[in-house]
Amino acid sequence: MTEPLRIALAGLGTVGAGVIRLIDANGELIARRAGRPIEVVAVSARDRAKDRGVDITRFDWVDDTAELARHPRADVVVELVGGSDGPALALARASLAGGKSFVTANKAMIAHHGLELANAAETAGLALKFEAAVAGGVPVIKGLREGAAANEIARVYGILNGTCNFILSKMEAEGRDFADILAEAQRLGYAEADPSFDIDGVDAAHKLSILASLAFGTQPAFEQVAIAGVRHILAADIAEAAALGYRVRLLGLSEANGHGLFQRVHPHLVPLSHPLAHVTGSTNAVVAEGNFVGRLLFQGAGAGDGPTASAVVADLIDIARGEFGPPYAMPAAALAQPGAADTGERIGRAYVRFTVADKVGVLAEIAAAMRDAGVSIESLMQRGASADGSVLVAIVTHEGPERAVAQALDKLRGSSSLTGEPMWMHILG
Ligand code: NAP
Ligand code: HSE
Repeated sequence: MTEPLRIALAGLGTVGAGVIRLIDANGELIARRAGRPIEVVAVSARDRAKDRGVDITRFDWVDDTAELARHPRADVVVELVGGSDGPALALARASLAGGKSFVTANKAMIAHHGLELANAAETAGLALKFEAAVAGGVPVIKGLREGAAANEIARVYGILNGTCNFILSKMEAEGRDFADILAEAQRLGYAEADPSFDIDGVDAAHKLSILASLAFGTQPAFEQVAIAGVRHILAADIAEAAALGYRVRLLGLSEANGHGLFQRVHPHLVPLSHPLAHVTGSTNAVVAEGNFVGRLLFQGAGAGDGPTASAVVADLIDIARGEFGPPYAMPAAALAQPGAADTGERIGRAYVRFTVADKVGVLAEIAAAMRDAGVSIESLMQRGASADGSVLVAIVTHEGPERAVAQALDKLRGSSSLTGEPMWMHILG
């Protein structure tokens, strides 16, 4: 058999240890498929003494993670540390500058610095691969870069954060509170080091910006993603949505058309007839609509050690085979500069929930704000007062421009009738 592909591995946490376990378990099969063995030769993390459930004494230990870029025996550096900048970015730059291909699961770094790193990799004739950065074990980057490469993509959207989907589907099934379900997702290894990235939609936005580049041939534009998370969704919202025939899901959605590039992460009401309504737990699912292939659905485990390691090692197998091209499916220099689309132009239906004081005239005030902004109400539900005396009013609008709903909410902002921030969710059309 030919020479192994030798790996220097930075980060030995959930995913890093998972990669070692996977190569240990499936090494022979991988060697047959890749045409050569894949072998870890050096590792680095913060704490050499920590028990990681895998034997790391057989590898060179490197204290300074950046030194992996110069490891004399390694062909490829795998970065599983995390963080958009800091040691991860320093290692990526040094590896590509020093002639080593680079594999990462780090969506934050790719969302912020992917273009720079792709330019560096292409100039050096090296691989930069990040399958695990989007949707964990689901081969959606491969699907868009390769399988759907012949298509013009109209839109790409989906459930991109396993932690949020785990929380929402548990809230739905068990009626439990948000906070203790988050703790469970953290225990299972789904959540980011900073879980606010998950629940505030930032992690999904990182992933969406990567998908948008691949789907539309545009430069990554994370700063253009409009972001809202799931922190303020109540069990009552989930119950109202269910009564109306919907499930609540955090979706990332991107479209490119004459108005520019639209990228948004936001809670949506998904009709029960749509496959995304039935995606539960930490599962991720991405829909891409191609002009010849039609609707593609990629679905599977979006987080956790095994699935994420599976995607990392798939990238290594491609490199071992010598099968890699430009990271974004076309040369980085050919990616168009995207202009951000105006979300106010979008037409759709909305769910808006108000928490209000139980007093005369409140409903009339909400209805007047909607009327003045030109929002047509399809249905309105009011639940009785809770222990603190506040009442929930949920409205579903007819189809109309988002700008009108925003105007109505602006008008109500600061009203003494409202006892909390309104919750606005889009209805997936
Ligand atoms: P993790 O469990 O927190 O592991 C991080 C590893 O990096 C640890 O081994 C840690 O060392 C090491 N590390 C942290 N800071 C370091 C520093 N300054 N210098 C050197 N090493 C450092 O994280 P993870 O969940 O495996 O995630 C790794 C990457 O994969 C992240 O980019 C994440 O977004 C991405 N990802 C994760 C999942 C998932 O399901 N977990 C899924 C897809 C993508 P010590 O162990 O010694 O503290
Ligand atoms: N924290 C991420 C999630 C891990 O919950 O989806 C996978 O990217």
